[in-house]
Amino acid sequence: MNEKTTHFGFTEIPESEKATRVQGVFGSVASKYDVMNDAMSLGIHRLWKDAMMDWLAPRPGQKLLDVAGGTGDISFRFLKRAGHGHATVLDLTEPMLVAGRQRAEAASMADQLDWVVGDAMALPFEDNTFDTYTISFGIRNVTRPQEALNEAFRVLKPGGRLMVLEFSQIPTPALQWAYDRYSFNCIPVMGKIIADDRDSYQYLVESIRKFPDQETFLGMVRTAGFDNAKYRNLSLGIACLHSGWKL
Ligand SMILES: C[S@@+](CC[C@H](N)C(=O)[O-])C[C@H]1O[C@@H](n2cnc3c(N)ncnc32)[C@H](O)[C@@H]1O
Repeated sequence: MNEKTTHFGFTEIPESEKATRVQGVFGSVASKYDVMNDAMSLGIHRLWKDAMMDWLAPRPGQKLLDVAGGTGDISFRFLKRAGHGHATVLDLTEPMLVAGRQRAEAASMADQLDWVVGDAMALPFEDNTFDTYTISFGIRNVTRPQEALNEAFRVLKPGGRLMVLEFSQIPTPALQWAYDRYSFNCIPVMGKIIADDRDSYQYLVESIRKFPDQETFLGMVRTAGFDNAKYRNLSLGIACLHSGWKL
C-alpha cells in the first residue's frame, strides 16, 4: 500500500518523514533562532507576540501549555503578564528547549517552567489539565494540524482557551506579491549569512505559503470542538491569531 504523503515546504514527502525533517531544521537553527527571528521580521514578531498576550490577557495562577514553544518566547511573556503562574513548554526539538531553559535560568524564572520533549499530535498529558494552550509559529510545521488542535481541546480544562499565532495569507494580491518577493529573495540569504543555513530558511518561507488561509484554519479550530472561535489579522494578514474556547 502506498504511504500517505504531505508537504515539507514545496516538496512532497511521506508523512512518516515530516517530523524528522522538521526536527532537523530546528535542531540546526536552535542556537541562532532568536537572533534570526529579530532579523527576518525586523523585530515585528515581538509585537505579534505582545498582541497575542493582549488578547489572551493571562491571569495570576493560570497553567499554560505552550506547544512548539521552542526557546520559550510565549511562555516568558505569559508568566510576566500573569504575575505568577506556571508554563509547560513542549517541543519536538530538544536543542530549542535547551536554548529556552538557558534563557529561563538567566532570567531567574526556571522554577515557573517545565520543558518537555514531545509531539503536538500526541500530548503526554491527561485530559482537562491546562487553563490555556498556545502554539506560536509552530502549527504549520506539524504533520497533521487537525490532530494537534484535537489534542489541544483534550488537554484544556472546561473553560480553557486556545490561542494560535501563525503566519497566514495576505488578502490583497499586490501586497502578497511584494511580501513573497521579500520572503523568497531575502530570508534564505539572511539564513545563510546569520545562521549559515540557507536550506532551513528556504523551508520556513515555503511552509508559510502552504499553510491554510484564515477562514480554512478557523474551520479546523471549530472542528476540534472549540466554541466562540474567531481570528484577528496582524500586519494585514502576514500573521494571524486564532482564538477558541473549550466550553
Ligand atoms: C518557528 S519555531 C516557534 C518557536 C516559538 N513558539 C516562537 O514563537 O518563537 C517552531 C517550533 O515548532 C516545533 N515543532 C514542530 N513540529 C512540532 C510538533 N509536531 N510538536 C511539537 N513541536 C513541534 C519546532 O521544533 C520548533 O521549535
